[in-house]
Amino acid sequence: MQEEQESEQSPGGGISRKGLLKVALAAVPLSAALGGAALARDAAPSERPLVPTPMCDDGDDPTPPQMEGPYFKPNSPRRTSLLEPGAQGVRLTLTGYVFGLGCQPVSGVLLDFWQADVNGAYDNRGFRYRGHQFTDSRGAFRLETIVPGLYPGRTRHLHVKAQAPGRPVLTTQLYFPNEPRNATDQLFNPALLMDVRQVGSAREASFDFVLNLRQGPGEPSPTPTGGTWAVGTAYRVGDRVTYSGATYECLQAHTAQPGWEPPSAPALWRRR
Ligand SMILES: [Fe+2]
Repeated sequence: MQEEQESEQSPGGGISRKGLLKVALAAVPLSAALGGAALARDAAPSERPLVPTPMCDDGDDPTPPQMEGPYFKPNSPRRTSLLEPGAQGVRLTLTGYVFGLGCQPVSGVLLDFWQADVNGAYDNRGFRYRGHQFTDSRGAFRLETIVPGLYPGRTRHLHVKAQAPGRPVLTTQLYFPNEPRNATDQLFNPALLMDVRQVGSAREASFDFVLNLRQGPGEPSPTPTGGTWAVGTAYRVGDRVTYSGATYECLQAHTAQPGWEPPSAPALWRRR
């Protein structure tokens, strides 16, 4: 079994408004929710006060970073399910969104997950329980895996790296509520607790990341929508599109999907 010695104290951080964000997103269409939030925040003082919008109150802290630990491996496979035939352990489905500081979802964010298996061991030869994916056009992600096993010195956790296109990497860890070892693990941070519920024999978890990205008028977007590239378009080899001010040439015929933006899909697009 691979043990992981992680003893650094993580940066602190209070509970964020992730829960409120999630509730708001579940209750109303995303565009309406964000539109309402923008109106509430941008209202001039002389205007009639609008109904408070809980999801986008300024001041949310970015998701705090945590140490990478010794078992990250680059070049994980791109996949949203880490389940393989014969996988043991309690099934875990993790869903959520990635936001910037302006409460706007960020699409095309690379999320690279790695974790221990049911026995608390990391696969350092292959890529079991390792995989990366990209948030979709709504900034959402979904990961299917198992509840990681425990190993000495740590409470139960998932590792993840999150990176918006062209922006710095956030490396952090996610935790499970009601774990006895949360009280003794020096790395544990309640700001990184997932919401977890039991559904039959499986568990469903949710967590929303807030990246340290300024959003608003005058701020460059990490996922500009300008350009000719469009989701749902069938591209052929040699087709050219523009995206975020750059031109790309199609390398493989495909139908564009959220997360396959040219800068995020070097197998599909080559910058010209
Ligand atoms: Fe770990």
